[in-house]
Amino acid sequence: MKVSAIASLMGLAALAAATRVLPRNYDANDYYVLHLERDASPDQVARSLGLSHEGPFGELKDHHVFVARKSEDDIVKRELVERRRRRKRSLGGTDVLDGVKFSQKQKLRKPWEKRVLPRAAGPAKLNLRQESVPVASAVERQRFVAQQLQIKDPIFNEQWHLFNPVQVGHDVNVTDVWLQGVTGKNATVAIVDDGLDMYSDDLKDNYYAQGSYDFNDKTDEPRPRLSDDRHGTRCAGEVSAGKNKVCGVGVAYDSRIAGLRILSKLISDADEAVAMNYDFQNNQIYSCSWGPPDDGRSMDAPGVLIRRAMLNAAQNGRGGLGSIYVFASGNGAANDDNCNFDGYTNSIYSITVGAIDRKGSHPYYSEKCSASLVVTYSSGGGDAIHTTDVGQNSCSDQHGGTSAAAPLAAGIFALALQVRPDLSWRDMQYLAMDTAVPVNTDIDGEWQTTAIGKKYSHTFAYGKIDSYGLVEAAKTWKKVKPQAWFFSPWIHVNEDIPEGDVGLSVSFEVTPEMLDEANLERLEHVTVTMNVAHTRRGDISVDLISPSKVVSHLAATRRLDNTEAGYDDWTFMSVVHWGETGLGTWTIVVKDTKINEHRGKFIDWHLKLWGESVDPSKAKVLPMPTEEDDNDHAVIATTTLAATTTSLPPDPAATETDALPTGNPSDHPDRPVNAKPTETTSSATVPATVSATNTAPAQEAETTAPSTWLPSFLPTFGVSGRTQVWIYGSVGLIAVFCSGLGVYFYMARRRRVRNGEARADYDFELLNDEEAEGLNSGEKGAAGKNGRAGRRTRGGELYDAFAGGSDDDDDDDEYRDRAYNEIMGGSSEGREEVGEKRRERRGEEDDGSDESDQHVVGDDDDDEEEDAPLRNTGH
Ligand SMILES: *[C@@H]1O[C@H](CO)[C@@H](O)[C@H](O)[C@H]1NC(C)=O
Ligand SMILES: *[C@@H]1O[C@H](CO)[C@@H](O)[C@H](O)[C@H]1NC(C)=O
Repeated sequence: MKVSAIASLMGLAALAAATRVLPRNYDANDYYVLHLERDASPDQVARSLGLSHEGPFGELKDHHVFVARKSEDDIVKRELVERRRRRKRSLGGTDVLDGVKFSQKQKLRKPWEKRVLPRAAGPAKLNLRQESVPVASAVERQRFVAQQLQIKDPIFNEQWHLFNPVQVGHDVNVTDVWLQGVTGKNATVAIVDDGLDMYSDDLKDNYYAQGSYDFNDKTDEPRPRLSDDRHGTRCAGEVSAGKNKVCGVGVAYDSRIAGLRILSKLISDADEAVAMNYDFQNNQIYSCSWGPPDDGRSMDAPGVLIRRAMLNAAQNGRGGLGSIYVFASGNGAANDDNCNFDGYTNSIYSITVGAIDRKGSHPYYSEKCSASLVVTYSSGGGDAIHTTDVGQNSCSDQHGGTSAAAPLAAGIFALALQVRPDLSWRDMQYLAMDTAVPVNTDIDGEWQTTAIGKKYSHTFAYGKIDSYGLVEAAKTWKKVKPQAWFFSPWIHVNEDIPEGDVGLSVSFEVTPEMLDEANLERLEHVTVTMNVAHTRRGDISVDLISPSKVVSHLAATRRLDNTEAGYDDWTFMSVVHWGETGLGTWTIVVKDTKINEHRGKFIDWHLKLWGESVDPSKAKVLPMPTEEDDNDHAVIATTTLAATTTSLPPDPAATETDALPTGNPSDHPDRPVNAKPTETTSSATVPATVSATNTAPAQEAETTAPSTWLPSFLPTFGVSGRTQVWIYGSVGLIAVFCSGLGVYFYMARRRRVRNGEARADYDFELLNDEEAEGLNSGEKGAAGKNGRAGRRTRGGELYDAFAGGSDDDDDDDEYRDRAYNEIMGGSSEGREEVGEKRRERRGEEDDGSDESDQHVVGDDDDDEEEDAPLRNTGH
């Protein structure tokens, strides 16, 4: 009783905080989100900047929203820069503005795209299904289940994804779970989408009002308002349609269902961030069937505030167990799109779900990637998902795409939470991975066996979700220890990528000392942040090979991606190495397999291993991502050994590592709040091995005659190759250590400057609020909507120096210049054709039209006309 009283108090508090999402008038006002030092007074900051303090920002600690009269400028940035200037000239002692750690002026941007299918390419009207004959015993069983559970829903028998009497076994295997009384009781799923019809007779009983909000129209009810707002309601029906006389049932038909409406109008990162944490003590699972366009050319990631919200959810949602984000992998497979080019699906905090059709085959649309964890049923094979639709008593037989797979998975996770509400966000990922059932294992070359004996396919991930298997495993699941991580230093490569199949490979060895220091026992996620300069992004592909020779295809070529850019601090993610120790040599292979006039250079990369800690008492809290994470490329100067084989320097080097004092800034008292958690500077002392495999013949010669591995201008001391490695390794270690020290002091100073303890010229760029945004789980996004400034600050020079420079990526501008009403047109069915037209029009618009808030807001106004209520509200 006491517990539930506290829980409901917490709920009330959350509600009080959460509903403070005030109507916004972007025509008259500007909105800023500021992150303040804990002891800074928001009112004083507001006075000093001439703003008014609206209130705390969502669930993010020490973040506040401020309002100002509309201005072209970022007036906060201006003031902060001015403040820095004064400080630099030693004018003025302390200032209230020194308490501002971060500032971001909010901009309206187009909402993310729903992952529905274009009608033309979508489910044809059930031709195949009509040809199929149900299996009598299965029909019998279906009837028995319905009778036992008193399911009288009229379309239950059409809901093949729940029970498939035709292709027996091709369903989510849930009925025996229900028969145990596990139906999602006490579990809550929030559908983050274009609305949820809480007046539908199929949803109203399970509707959870407290966890719901309309961020587009700033009202409590996320009711569908545009004629196109059907997507969220269909998704909600899959999860939580009640057992009644309306349509069918949800997979967790006794769960509670909330709606968070964000896809129906222009939105700011701030509002999306608040939505992703909305009522996060009670909303347990967030189902997200949307993302950057699946056009095979977009590469986009959530902005830093949204990334902060997602990390905050992992750390503080559900009383610290962590919110569970479920994302649709994307529908762009036919466009060669890949879910590793989407910063939501490749976040370690999301469970990425792909689709299979009612015959168990891969539907043409479902995107693959190494970040995909599981698949489940959706449209294709002659049918679609049958679910609730908008309206008091309306059903849809047209729901599909990966949009329909993600909510189904979310509902199944809700079943697991009924039996084990204490599962953490990582426990749920383990369970999903561990209990998935591989499908189509006979497809040649599709499956590989992982280090822990699991089967993984980039198309089918660990396999399809088996509800029964998952819930049974959940009952006895032993919770995993807290998360730990190891971050490698930046590994500098700076080599041209040879065209052809061989590619450029670079290795990094993870030593036992590194893992010890990182308190890391076994892996879950692996992320690689990398920079590649290229004149055509779609030509590049990237593989990561683990010490146990398990391969992640981090990036695949994309025939439609003509972007004149490479990767700018883009982070790829893999779940393929789940369960490995991480120990040993990791090799990354960057290829340019398209033989054409486009060329590129692999600049640098950075490996992050995430997993379970050895000693829970040493677990750390990951700091919030900042705009500068991963900017310190200079911290480590790694040794680049051209044209060596993959053999690493022998053990002495690794042992030597130990003997060297570590320059780990995290041991330093000056360690700033936002420093990376484990800056393993010392690990720099392990030289990376670069191998341009196009020099393979030379390598073979080298292997047999080791004395040739050195560049000719270096002396060999007349000793064996092995000893040379040792000598040069040691010299390299010392050099690297010294430069590491130098850089460390440089960085430390830079940070002090940032914290207002010193003054320096290079300090200016730090206040650029757009600097290096678009991070994913602590990393910067590539050519994302926020990625441009990052390119300017660091990558700008880099890319300018390369192949005639990098005018900002076209996609980026196109993306932002796209008119909103076009988008709304495109987000409904029939997108392919609209998309073509849109692209043409965009081409025209792009000439000379600079992106501006004004432009966007204007579009929004146009849209208001479309904004007519979908139907009368006489419920
Ligand atoms: C499905 O559930 C049944 C119990 O209802 C279980 O025996 C079986 O292993 C599950 N999985 C598959 C793939 O059939
Ligand atoms: C629902 O949750 C409450 C509070 O955690 C708990 O007391 C109750 O037993 C749960 N009910 C079910 C059916 O699991």
